[in-house]
Amino acid sequence: MKRVSISDRLVYVLPPRSARASFLGCSGLVVRDARTAIIDGNMGPDETPAFLEAEKPDVCVVSHFHVDHSRWAHEAAQVPGVVLHVPRAELRYLADMDHFVERCGLPDEDMARSWRTWLTQGAGLRPVPDAVPLAPGDVLDLGATRIDVVDAKGHSPGHQAYWIAKDRILFCVDIGVDGFGPWYGWRDADLLEYVRSIWRLVELDARLLVTSHGGLIEKDVRTVLLGCLDVMRGRETVIAHDLDEGLDVETITARGHIYGDTSRFPPPLDAAYRLWEENMVREHVRIISTGGIDAVDH
Ligand SMILES: [Fe+2]
Repeated sequence: MKRVSISDRLVYVLPPRSARASFLGCSGLVVRDARTAIIDGNMGPDETPAFLEAEKPDVCVVSHFHVDHSRWAHEAAQVPGVVLHVPRAELRYLADMDHFVERCGLPDEDMARSWRTWLTQGAGLRPVPDAVPLAPGDVLDLGATRIDVVDAKGHSPGHQAYWIAKDRILFCVDIGVDGFGPWYGWRDADLLEYVRSIWRLVELDARLLVTSHGGLIEKDVRTVLLGCLDVMRGRETVIAHDLDEGLDVETITARGHIYGDTSRFPPPLDAAYRLWEENMVREHVRIISTGGIDAVDH
């Protein structure tokens, strides 16, 4: 893993490349103040235990249930005296594996079973029944540093961002300022709420953007965040064109506008990518029927 100092109190932490490549890690933030907090400190299965041992956090925060952000939750929960926070809207996802898998909306039993097996045996996910809920509007008071919890739902039902107003630093988590752009592939994602969340983050007027998969962004933060909407508009344009041609969701999905030809992935990954493509197409079709991305009130 790698540590990048942002200020005398803030450290950006990045997992090793192997964890990033296999959906087993995400970048996070360490805040060293009167109390030490770690937000999304999932440095992957190999490095998270030593990382937690070194930092000895008082507070750990999981931003949303997606496994690259949540698989370290049970390790964080074992730190002596720690308070583990998870989003209020996703408390049950992280306490109950059956609920986690069910909410992903997999189309058949076989796929649900192999997903559950990978989550538990491949990723090492364990339920955390005693986590403390954190909700938009709550404040993490760590001493001199106050972190506001900002609603960034849409990517997932409880997806959160974290705002340090005095420094104008925004940890935007998975809002989508990386190469792929915004992701809304599980059944519980909501494109309409996602658009509102992007605008909510834009309006904070951050100076520095901390991201889960796209590094630190200091230049043109507003433009970079608005770029998430541009990616969505691009997808909307091609999907709207297909709808005008009379195509249905299944046929549009098969065209692979978002992921390309999913048969390049080995089974069972190919089925997962097709499912994510279909869910994202379905969300666009839903939004297009009410005027599209630019008609969403915010
Ligand atoms: Fe995510």
